[in-house]
Amino acid sequence: MSPTAKTEIKPASGKLGILTPGMGAVATTFIAGVEAIRRGLAKPIGSLTQMGTIRLGKRTDGRSPLIREFVPLAKLDDIVFGGWDLFPDDAYQAASKAGVLSKEHLTPLKDFLSSVKPMTPVFDQEYVKKLTATHQKKGKNKADLADQVIEDIKRFKKDNGCDRLVMVWCGSTEVYRSPAPVHATLAAFEKGLQENDPEISPSQIYAYAALKSGVPYANGAPNLTVDTPALMELAKKNGVPIGGKDFKTGQTLMKTILAPGFKARLLGVEGWYSTNILGNRDGEVLDDPESFKSKEVSKLGSLEHIFQPHLYPDLYGKMHHVVRINYYPPRGDNKEGWDNIDIFGWMGYPMQIKIDFLCRDSILAAPIVLDLALFMDLAQRCGMSGIQEWLSFYWKSPQTAPGLYPEHDLFIQLMKLKNTLRHLRGEELITHLGAEYYD
Ligand SMILES: NC(=O)c1ccc[n+]([C@@H]2O[C@H](COP(=O)([O-])OP(=O)(O)OC[C@H]3O[C@@H](n4cnc5c(N)ncnc54)[C@H](O)[C@@H]3O)[C@@H](O)[C@H]2O)c1
Repeated sequence: MSPTAKTEIKPASGKLGILTPGMGAVATTFIAGVEAIRRGLAKPIGSLTQMGTIRLGKRTDGRSPLIREFVPLAKLDDIVFGGWDLFPDDAYQAASKAGVLSKEHLTPLKDFLSSVKPMTPVFDQEYVKKLTATHQKKGKNKADLADQVIEDIKRFKKDNGCDRLVMVWCGSTEVYRSPAPVHATLAAFEKGLQENDPEISPSQIYAYAALKSGVPYANGAPNLTVDTPALMELAKKNGVPIGGKDFKTGQTLMKTILAPGFKARLLGVEGWYSTNILGNRDGEVLDDPESFKSKEVSKLGSLEHIFQPHLYPDLYGKMHHVVRINYYPPRGDNKEGWDNIDIFGWMGYPMQIKIDFLCRDSILAAPIVLDLALFMDLAQRCGMSGIQEWLSFYWKSPQTAPGLYPEHDLFIQLMKLKNTLRHLRGEELITHLGAEYYD
């Protein structure tokens, strides 16, 4: 394919502030990891922006630079961290309580992590039933709360000398909600903020404040947030990238690795039963059926989109897909996820596959937070606004243009991401046709 015109990309000069509403297990593992990498104490394992390469040109050209050398990304040394949380613990205290990283890794970073302190949050217990905030913003209505977040963003940027900011939601999973009339247009949403509409959640208030401030927003939880017409309208109006939702880490990552393989070989699937035990604060929040419902909906979508039962009714038309999460404190952040997959092959003969993934949730999520922050910042410097579908790679439930089905296959997602980067730099897109090697 012929090269495309090179996109003009503003340089990644100055500091990039990464703001996380929610400074629990995921956010503090991310912050501690970036600082450990900066000090040469760890490697950025799991991060495409830091360790990934990208092939350019023909297979015989031998050009495979690191992604971070191919596109101008913010440097880790230029990142500063900020956020909000329901609890006033600094990042060292929060990371110690989360129990993801050991003392051996946290103690050398104590001075730095103790300096990262959460701002006062916007909270509404209707949206996270299992947690009670020890401090939260007070305001005359939701518009006032949004203004206070906008002020926080402004102050953070000034105090830390940031050139640019991005916001990545790392807060708890809110209860399941469908879009309401208040989400239909930006005007309706702004009226709803003034009138304290109960359908406007805290995450939507942060997202609104970010987009109003020209700050890209990535939604790490399955919350209904920037996937509403009102906030999509605001993102477009202000030229800000958005994306979501729900970091693709453990079980769904495995599904989107395996399912494309079964489909490629036309193996049928009769059932896919997934269950998890999880003992961290996230697990506690998901123990509430309404928050679990948000997660369940986000997790269920992947297989249906990969298998396309309408195109392959004999193979996937009657598949039973079940997802369970059980809160089990002894395991802390070390989730155990089991999958039982009932597949069938030639002449319908049944087979079974069992997976037992003893994973570490926040260890899998931290590099995703980093990559999303860096790529969202890149997108903004390229003038790309609205939904960033090329970042579907990172999401359990990728946001797409209305009416467009999401792409869940991890390998297609990666190809799309890399082709987007090639496109931005005016390099040939890779089609894998390869006919030229045989001319
Ligand atoms: N770890 C993973 O693999 C993974 C994968 C996908 C999605 N997620 C999602 O990422 C989010 C964070 O996960 P975690 O393990 O760090 O959870 P956590 O419970 O350790 O941290 C979440 C933090 O958010 C805070 N919070 C809740 N509502 C808030 C608000 N309105 N404003 C500011 N802070 C708020 C809580 O006080 C808590 O400290 C969860 O929604 C989780 O479902 C995690």
